[in-house]
Amino acid sequence: SLDEPLKVMISGAPASGKGTQCELIVQKFGLVHISTGDLLRAEVSSGTDIGKKAKEFMNSGSLVPDEIVIAMVAGRLSREDAKERGWLLDGFPRTYAQAQSLDKLNVRPDIFLLLDVPDEILIDRCVGRRLDPVTGKIYHVKSYPPESEEIKQRLVTRPDDTEEKVKSRLQIYKQNSKAIISAYSDVMIKIDANRPKEVVFEESQTLLSQIQLKRMIRTDKA
Ligand code: AP5
Repeated sequence: SLDEPLKVMISGAPASGKGTQCELIVQKFGLVHISTGDLLRAEVSSGTDIGKKAKEFMNSGSLVPDEIVIAMVAGRLSREDAKERGWLLDGFPRTYAQAQSLDKLNVRPDIFLLLDVPDEILIDRCVGRRLDPVTGKIYHVKSYPPESEEIKQRLVTRPDDTEEKVKSRLQIYKQNSKAIISAYSDVMIKIDANRPKEVVFEESQTLLSQIQLKRMIRTDKA
């Protein structure tokens, strides 16, 4: 129906721009952003049990065990806001077992956006990344510098953004990506994400609007 909310998955290598695109998509479409990386970093910084278990895996650039992440996402997806406003799942599923867990819950996306960026670009994006702990906004020292000196002063780096750890994160991504992509090949769209963020967003925005438009037409006919 017309008010059936959008269900979107976004995937891609480390630093392919998932978080950056999610900021823009959420602004425009009002979806609930469910980023497993952000959720886990929040657990770590508040020192919860989940955070204590996840910390070492994250800091070394390896994956957090499936059962921890699966329980976290299932809990978040079942909340009322996600059902009402639709969702944007970022960084999950990342393993075959995680994809299977969603199938068991009957969770399928309308579209699976795959951000494509050449390997050699990813290292620089990670090493230059800075985060604003106050707003959660993502910056880059060269490509997307902060708007003011005040913001610049408070920016932080992620412990897993060193060149060495990025390489190992990328390797882990490559080991898992084929299984994930084949699970969603029916709704997958690959996007050239080695272009300015506004240009990439223009393409994702068009794709999401098309889904909404098709629903409107279908509702009209019914
Ligand atoms: P997570 O936070 O998901 O990390 P990731 O997948 O490695 O992705 P990133 O956050 O590094 O990058 P991004 O694609 O969001 O890029 P961004 O927009 O920031 O996961 C972190 C860790 O948590 C994992 O290693 C694991 O330990 C754990 N974890 C998370 N999910 C898990 C799961 N499902 N299972 C198990 N463990 C899990 O952009 C990067 C930089 O590039 C920024 O500086 C940005 O300004 C810049 N940039 C963005 N777009 C552009 C552009 N178009 N042009 C130029 N620069 C750009």
